[in-house]
Amino acid sequence: MIEIKSKREIELIKEACKIVALVHKAIENAIKPGITTKELDNIAERVIKENGGIPAQKGYPSYQKGVMPFPSSICASINDEVIHGIPSERVHLKDGDLVSVDLVALKNGYNGDAARTYIVGKGSKEAEKLVEVTRKAFFEGIKFAKPGYRIGDISNAIGEFVEKNGFSVVKEFQGHGIGREMHEDPGIPNYGKPGKGPRIESGMTLAIEPMVIAGNPDICELDDGWTIVTEDGSLAAHYENTILVTENEPKVLTLL
Ligand code: MF3
Ligand code: CO
Repeated sequence: MIEIKSKREIELIKEACKIVALVHKAIENAIKPGITTKELDNIAERVIKENGGIPAQKGYPSYQKGVMPFPSSICASINDEVIHGIPSERVHLKDGDLVSVDLVALKNGYNGDAARTYIVGKGSKEAEKLVEVTRKAFFEGIKFAKPGYRIGDISNAIGEFVEKNGFSVVKEFQGHGIGREMHEDPGIPNYGKPGKGPRIESGMTLAIEPMVIAGNPDICELDDGWTIVTEDGSLAAHYENTILVTENEPKVLTLL
């Protein structure tokens, strides 16, 4: 069931999203060669709490039996890591690295979710193109986040744009509705057929998140039960915002 949010719920989701945007700004400013992903995690936790929020990813359960809950406030995924990388004090960022940071803040019972891929220092031409195509794919997708379209229209626009640019989308993970729960209906794949899937209606809040690989689309999971890496070792990028569907253009809630 896809929930249509009330005015009050939308205000609360906006507050959570504002925190997420502030955290991304703090992280973007802090990223430099030498910093650890654990230090980025500490910054995120501090900014979330300073703004009255709770880091919703910390302690988030795995759907797999025997896998620890996610231990940190952010996911930090480097280079060939696609999503769900675990921050570590042993991982120092280097010039040219890609680091994808995904985070969810909870405030007053409502969630906001956004991810960005940052380039540490100066990236390769390929890295720059990958990050740019991933970001643009999100904006191609949300052209269809309006009443009158269906979820498949968003999915198709993202997938076609990525492939037209010579990259691959991840098929095993997808965007999602968001609100009281971090993950609500509908699932929003980054590929699919136009005209298919649930109808989009005003008042839906959606986290749309292209996950893009420079090489083959295949992925593997590391032994920690969380980190997803590309099978061929090629670079990956992630770009996600929480949006509100309205009668007109969608509102991107996790941009300042
Ligand atoms: N923020 C992620 C998403 O986009 C979910 C992260 S999984 C967690 O859906 F375990 F880290 F919370
Ligand atoms: Co998400």
